[in-house]
Amino acid sequence: MNTPEKDVILIVDDSPNNLGVLYDTLHHGGFEIAVAMDGLTAIEQIEYEPPALILLDIKMPGIDGFETCRRLKENPATRDIPVIFMTALADTVDKVKGLNLGAVDYIIKPFQQEEVLARVRVHLKLRTLTKALEEQNGRLLQEIEQRTAAEAALQKLTQELEQQVEERTAKLAEALNNWQKAQATLVQSEKMSSLGQMIAGVAHEINNPVGFIVGNIALARQYFHDLLNLIALYQQTYPTPTPTIQQLRAEIDLEFLAKDWQKLINSIQVGAERIQQIVGSLRNFSRLDESELKPVDIHEGIDSTLFLLQHRLRAIGDRPEIEVIKNYAQLPKITCYASQLNQVFMHLLNNAIDAVENQPIPRVINICTTVETGEWRGKEELPQFSIPQFALVRIGDNGQGISEEVRSQIFDPFFTTKPVGSGMGLGLSLSYQIVVEKHGGELQCISALGKGTEFVIKLPLIPGQML
Ligand SMILES: Nc1ncnc2c1ncn2[C@@H]1O[C@H](COP(=O)(O)OP(=O)(O)OP(=O)(O)O)[C@@H](O)[C@H]1O
Ligand SMILES: [Mg+2]
Repeated sequence: MNTPEKDVILIVDDSPNNLGVLYDTLHHGGFEIAVAMDGLTAIEQIEYEPPALILLDIKMPGIDGFETCRRLKENPATRDIPVIFMTALADTVDKVKGLNLGAVDYIIKPFQQEEVLARVRVHLKLRTLTKALEEQNGRLLQEIEQRTAAEAALQKLTQELEQQVEERTAKLAEALNNWQKAQATLVQSEKMSSLGQMIAGVAHEINNPVGFIVGNIALARQYFHDLLNLIALYQQTYPTPTPTIQQLRAEIDLEFLAKDWQKLINSIQVGAERIQQIVGSLRNFSRLDESELKPVDIHEGIDSTLFLLQHRLRAIGDRPEIEVIKNYAQLPKITCYASQLNQVFMHLLNNAIDAVENQPIPRVINICTTVETGEWRGKEELPQFSIPQFALVRIGDNGQGISEEVRSQIFDPFFTTKPVGSGMGLGLSLSYQIVVEKHGGELQCISALGKGTEFVIKLPLIPGQML
């Protein structure tokens, strides 16, 4: 086992006599001793081998004890070594000055052996305790630092975790919202298609009886004409009818009846033909028989949609009619889902009517179709030299227009600026689905506030060319 090293005590004194006395005293006290006879030597020695305690004489040649002490206290390596001054009994000034310079104590010459030993022991003990305390303090500080760091790390981790939870929750909420929207859109488009089927069914049912009426009107006209001829012939053959016949003829006012009958049958014919037109438009609009991709004349679709919207376009009360200007190009038949495209025309025209309805006159809706050749953006290889062609349908209105902020949201399901109950906000999102997803086309909105609005439907003449 290693015996602990003894504490070394450095005595600094220029008087060999004093050195001798102190050496003996401390040696007897069991201490290891080093000596120096002037300040500078002492400082060098201390730096080289730091003692546990310094007994320092004040009056010495070269630098005195005070200066030696000052220099030692200035140096961080030696600052903590306790210094005990040795001073003459009467020198109070020296004592105070020494203590002010950082000495821990003083001993008085001539030396009292027991006192010297006692003081040295006390200060060594104090130094050991101080050192232990400092070490402990250091450890505590280190521990506090570690804990603070751990706490900070924990806090950071908690924050990150909270942020992650927040982000995930937001993502989940968004996904749920999107799902709900998609679900609602699906329901709405299902509703539309079953509504279309119902319309087609009803139109079909009405079509037959109306057909009888229209078909029989000509016959009814003919029969009535024949009957009138017969009455006239009777009149010629029997110029003097019986009084009963004369009375009946006066009662029914035969001349008036004959004239009125013409008007009556004419109005029945106009009414029946109108029903036929409506039914035709309804059937054309819903085109149940064309739920597959088929080449159709889309102008027919636009016209039947317009026909079904007559009630919104014509003048009502003080409100003058909404003018519809059509500019149709020579369009080839377009292969498409006709009934779905008609839904798109219906949504866009309804929106255009909504936009101009409360505007001052002139209130105009422009419908224009063109054929364009354009860039090929498709995935499939095109046959050599063939240039893709598109049909463009532009539906414009001179309504209030759409601000940039609103325009960025119009295709979102459920986005509406219309009063509660009057708009679901689904028209454009459904139209977008039909044009873009079902037909591989494009649906574009060109608008600015106060400048009116134009929707452009771009459809490939050969389906699949644009996707
Ligand atoms: N021609 C237009 N002029 C001005 N704003 C328009 C026009 N077309 C669409 N908008 C704007 O786009 C919004 C969304 O249109 P969308 O057709 O999707 O829904 P909606 O017309 O509000 O309701 P819904 O069509 O379901 O009855 C409208 O509320 C309106 O603000
Ligand atoms: Mg709409």
